[in-house]
Amino acid sequence: MNSTEWKEKLSFIRNDFFNSAIKSNSGDISALETEYIGRKGFLTFLLKDLKNFSLEEKKILGPLGNTLKAEITDKISELKNKFGSLSSSGLKNDFDLTLSARPYPKGSLHPITQTINKMTEIFLKLGFSVAEGPFIENEYYNFEALNIPEDHSSRDMHDTFYASIKDSKNRNLLLRTHTSPVQIRTMEKLKPPLRVISPGRVFRRDAIDASHSFVFYQIEGFYVDKNVSMADLKWTLETFIKELFGEKVKLRFRPSYFPFVEPGAGVVMPCVFCSGQKGTCPGCKGTGWIEVLGAGTIHPKVLKYCGYDSDAWSGFAFGAGVERFAMLLFGIKDMRVLYENDLRILKQL
Ligand code: PHE
Repeated sequence: MNSTEWKEKLSFIRNDFFNSAIKSNSGDISALETEYIGRKGFLTFLLKDLKNFSLEEKKILGPLGNTLKAEITDKISELKNKFGSLSSSGLKNDFDLTLSARPYPKGSLHPITQTINKMTEIFLKLGFSVAEGPFIENEYYNFEALNIPEDHSSRDMHDTFYASIKDSKNRNLLLRTHTSPVQIRTMEKLKPPLRVISPGRVFRRDAIDASHSFVFYQIEGFYVDKNVSMADLKWTLETFIKELFGEKVKLRFRPSYFPFVEPGAGVVMPCVFCSGQKGTCPGCKGTGWIEVLGAGTIHPKVLKYCGYDSDAWSGFAFGAGVERFAMLLFGIKDMRVLYENDLRILKQL
């Protein structure tokens, strides 16, 4: 080959390389490098040929060859920068590790969930276990076995969502209006002694306002053993409330009526918004007290419905409104805050 042919070859290699470089993508840059300037590359071969030329010719051809080699080397590193060095999966690996991290939105548990968790934790420490029941109940578990017969006026206290279908035993189906049916379901299945709580959603045909919703949460609790009395109930609820709100909080038990307990009590604690001072406080409607639980000793009839010998066993039961506790714990005066899920508010809780 004479020097003209050598120059032609050089220009052919240049054109060929830059054409391929334009079409190259992240996958074939290393191949391109090997093909042109690798140990057996086109340009490498051509440069090796220089040894056959005269010194005069070498002085001219040598710099031409080296210039092209430098151009190709530059182009290859430019392409490598563009596509990033290749990972074995063929994916781009062009992270900039020096960039500062982007802040991402931090999630948290909903205040109702937090409240249920807190309340549950205390009862677990007191030896209670957790049971759950269905949202769709039948009237036997929601009412009858709880000593609320069909024509009993207290069914009116529970504004019930009825389904238009019945179950296989021809019982009306409904959305449970309280968590008390879980008492029956659990006692039917398990033998005493029992200490169980049951948190969950309940439903009533109520209009939404600052203290009502048609879906809300309760935590049921019940304890059946030999010689369980109102004293055990008092101790348990007082221990629970003190654990939740502090040692100083005092409970008041006021007579109340629930067909499935006898005697029954409405349990109130001093209003956290006005510290029990009577006045115009919207949190307690000016009474200084907030009712937080319904409770009592389990009616013998209820024990009998579940197949328990009511002479041998006795028990207490209570039902707590979770939203009430959430409002007290988080200082919320309007229950709707808990359902509207306005992130600006939830983020503060
Ligand atoms: N189930 C009752 C209610 O929803 C609360 C309650 C539970 C009362 C257990 C006494 C015992 O109002």
